[in-house]
Amino acid sequence: MGKLDGQMAIVTGAGRGIGKAIALMLGAEGAKVAVNYNSSSGPADEVVAQINAMWRDRADAPDVEEERAFAIQANVSDATQARAMVRSVYERWGRIDILVNNAGITRDRSIRKMTDEDWLEVIQTNLNAVFFCTTAAMQPMIEQKYGRIINISSVNGQTSAFGQANYGASKGGIIAFTKTVALELARYNITVNVVAPGFTLTDMFAKVPDTIQEQIKSRIPLGRFGKPEEIAKAVLFLAADADYVTGAQINVNGGTYM
Ligand SMILES: NC(=O)c1ccc[n+]([C@@H]2O[C@H](COP(=O)([O-])OP(=O)(O)OC[C@H]3O[C@@H](n4cnc5c(N)ncnc54)[C@H](OP(=O)(O)O)[C@@H]3O)[C@@H](O)[C@H]2O)c1
Repeated sequence: MGKLDGQMAIVTGAGRGIGKAIALMLGAEGAKVAVNYNSSSGPADEVVAQINAMWRDRADAPDVEEERAFAIQANVSDATQARAMVRSVYERWGRIDILVNNAGITRDRSIRKMTDEDWLEVIQTNLNAVFFCTTAAMQPMIEQKYGRIINISSVNGQTSAFGQANYGASKGGIIAFTKTVALELARYNITVNVVAPGFTLTDMFAKVPDTIQEQIKSRIPLGRFGKPEEIAKAVLFLAADADYVTGAQINVNGGTYM
């Protein structure tokens, strides 16, 4: 038995990095997972193959041939694509129990150099996409009277980071959005929470120059960067074991921000 047997999940940006770790962990606990990607088609297919393989290996799997995951392309910063993606998962599986809004980008530049494009692209992908996917997924969740929405923010939405006015605003916006939506959807037994990762070893963090990485590491009380699986564990907790938690933030940051 998995903790999420019988549940249907969507993870945005799940071909790589933190999203991949989340999709694999939810799949390992028995959820069916729609693996959203924008450009990483091959990696998303690989995540799907891994989830299906885990199911085949499960001793108590009733039907080893059952589809446990599929990859679905959508640029979630586009309202039409994001909503069509959620709708097609619902049409395929007839439920949506878990939505993890994970997709995110950075376009770091000091405010003096930041262009309108830098600003708009980050807000559209990191914040507006959360609105598009949430409002699409909440409809079936309201009808089911059950849902778990988990939004991936960032330590840099909680505290300042040079060159990230756009990113910080988007991630701080996610936290504010989460609290209001948690309040409004609680009556339908839908919880809405935030996981706020610290500096985590993915392609996104690899873009940070080595010297800056060393400076950052020296300020992390636990003395190391996070692993994507450590973020995924917090998401799993909120999805599987946190029935009485809503509007909350779980910081998974090695003590970087307390
Ligand atoms: N790594 C960190 O240190 C860190 C710290 C705090 C918070 N976070 C947050 O954690 C989340 C995952 O970050 P990560 O480190 O795993 O980043 P990553 O390795 O750069 O991966 C980003 C993911 O987002 C997807 N994505 C980007 N734009 C998209 C769009 N328009 N539509 C659909 N998917 C899109 C990408 O999909 P494709 O590859 O298919 O384009 C990719 O799967 C982000 O929200 C990020 O802000 C990361």
